[in-house]
Parts: sequence; C-alpha cells; structure tokens
Amino acid sequence: MKFSTVGVIGAGTIGTGLITDLALHGLNVIAVDVSDAALERARSEVLKSIRFAPMFSKSLPRVSREDALARMIFTRELRDLTPCEFVIENVPEKWEIKRPIYELLDSFMPPAACFGVNTSCIPIARVAALTRRPAQVIGLHAMNPVHLMPTVEVIRGVQTSDDTIAKLLALFAQLGKQAIIVNDSPGFVSNRISHLFMNEAAAVLQDGVSTAEDIDKIFKQCFGHKMGPLETADLIGLDTVANSLDVLFDEFRDPKFRVCPLLRQLVAEGHLGRKTGRGFHTYPEA
Ligand SMILES: NC(=O)c1ccc[n+]([C@@H]2O[C@H](COP(=O)([O-])OP(=O)(O)OC[C@H]3O[C@@H](n4cnc5c(N)ncnc54)[C@H](O)[C@@H]3O)[C@@H](O)[C@H]2O)c1
Repeated sequence: MKFSTVGVIGAGTIGTGLITDLALHGLNVIAVDVSDAALERARSEVLKSIRFAPMFSKSLPRVSREDALARMIFTRELRDLTPCEFVIENVPEKWEIKRPIYELLDSFMPPAACFGVNTSCIPIARVAALTRRPAQVIGLHAMNPVHLMPTVEVIRGVQTSDDTIAKLLALFAQLGKQAIIVNDSPGFVSNRISHLFMNEAAAVLQDGVSTAEDIDKIFKQCFGHKMGPLETADLIGLDTVANSLDVLFDEFRDPKFRVCPLLRQLVAEGHLGRKTGRGFHTYPEA
C-alpha cells in the first residue's frame, strides 16, 4: 500500500509540520485552510524547513524548493480534497470548529477515504460518530516539529478498523515514522499527563515560587528532559494547551484540569508562545 496524495486541513502549527514531512518524503499534499494568511505562512514555513532539514537531520530526504512547490496545492476549498486517499485534519482544538468539517467532508469524499483526526484530547469516538464511515476514522497525535519527530501516538477509536490502522501505519512507513497505538480516552496517554505538568508549571510561576527559566531548568538539568514544561507549552501554542485542558476538564469533570489563570491571561493577551514571539518565554526571531 503506497499513498500518493494526502489532504491536510488546517495549516497552522501542526498542519505546517505535516505538510513539510509529506513533501519531504515525496508525497503530494493538498492543504486547506480558511485563512489566506495561514496558507501563505505555511507555504513559506514549509520551504524554510525543507531548506534547513539537512542541518537538523541526516536521515531526512533532500528535496529542492521546485520539487516541493510542485507537490503542494494550497487552497481554501475543502472540496479540493476529493482526490485524497487519506485526509488529516488539524484545525483548532475546539469542537465547534472540528464538528462541521467532518459533517461536510463525509458528504463528498469518496467512500474509501480515511480521516485522521489530529487532536490533543478530543475522543475519536465523538468525531467518528459525525460520519457514516466510523471504521475509517482514526486519531493521531503528531508531535511538534512533525518532520523531526520519529514517533506518533495513534488512537484507535472503538470503531476504527484494523484496515484503517494498517493504512495509517503504511503512510507512516512512507514518512519513516513509528506509531505507538493506544486506546481512545480524552487526552490519550501523552496529553492527559503532560498537560497537568504544563498547567501546574504555570501555577508555580504564577505563585512566584520560581522563574520560568528555572522551572524549565529543573526539568532539563534534574530530570534530564529535553525541554521544560513551559518551553513545551510555548512550542505547542498556549491557546492549544488551554483549549486541550478545557476538553479534559469537560470530559472528566475533574478540577485538576482547570486552566491556571496565568495561562488563561496570556492567551487573552495574545501571547501564544513561539508562534506569536511571546508566551512564558520570549522569542525575538518569531
Ligand atoms: N501544536 C501542537 O504541538 C499540536 C500537537 C499535536 C496535536 N495538535 C492538535 O492539532 C490541531 C491543530 O493545532 P495547531 O496547534 O496546529 O493549531 P493552530 O491554531 O496553530 O492552527 C490551526 C489552523 O486551522 C485553521 N482553521 C481554523 N478553522 C478552520 C476550518 N474550518 N477549516 C480549515 N482550517 C481552519 C486556522 O486558520 C489555523 O491555520 C489541534 O486539534 C491540536 O490540539 C497540536
């Protein structure tokens, strides 16, 4: 099984990484976003990442700018996805944004097409129930930056078929990626745990226990983590982290997932992390 054309809906932080990875590995990509500015930003970010990929990884394929451009279509039209065998959705972690996309997608995509839900916390069964092809809906939680991360958390919905899992694994094989398959539950494994870390790190900062730099240093220098929890939140996007905690709070009704007021405040002020140049830390290059 070899894929030639993959659809990507939502060309933000994770969608752009996915487009980069697909183009680097010789696949054609049709990328859809509601925003022309997001599509333009995604195109230039992909070209930049492809140019710098050899500096970050010796194992990634070398692709020219012309080759990459010939493989990518950027559009605002969801219906342009019709030729895709697999569509991966990456719009914000908000049910009211994700829901209408699946209802529409299901109405016009060929019956054999599979839908990959790139989500941080939303249960896959909820998304699958929006379609008439629940067996062909599968969850994936790709890590950022997608083209440099070797492993993806894959979520098997209660109705996801073995055939759909085999198709996603075949696609990952083309991308040189491994999968760890987990069962469906809000936040899966990674985010049910990691979002508590990030939220509590924000609370520790809010309480004046330490600085953002030192909180992250403790995780890096004492626990041997590559990144601290506040840097990780900045990389993910503070809006995405807060939205994900809201999903966890709604799903479990457990106050441990309540968003820390400092995190909420930074989002309200538009300080979303790396993508806006400021979050818990500042990023002058953004
Ligand atoms: N950021 C991460 O590290 C990360 C990691 C794994 C999974 N995720 C999940 O991936 C999804 C996307 O997250 P992100 O961080 O890339 O978000 P983002 O806000 O950076 O990007 C979302 C993109 O979707 C577009 N969009 C909004 N509504 C749309 C619509 N109706 N149709 C098409 N495009 C639309 C926006 O214009 C934007 O470009 C979320 O569900 C998130 O939880 C994120």
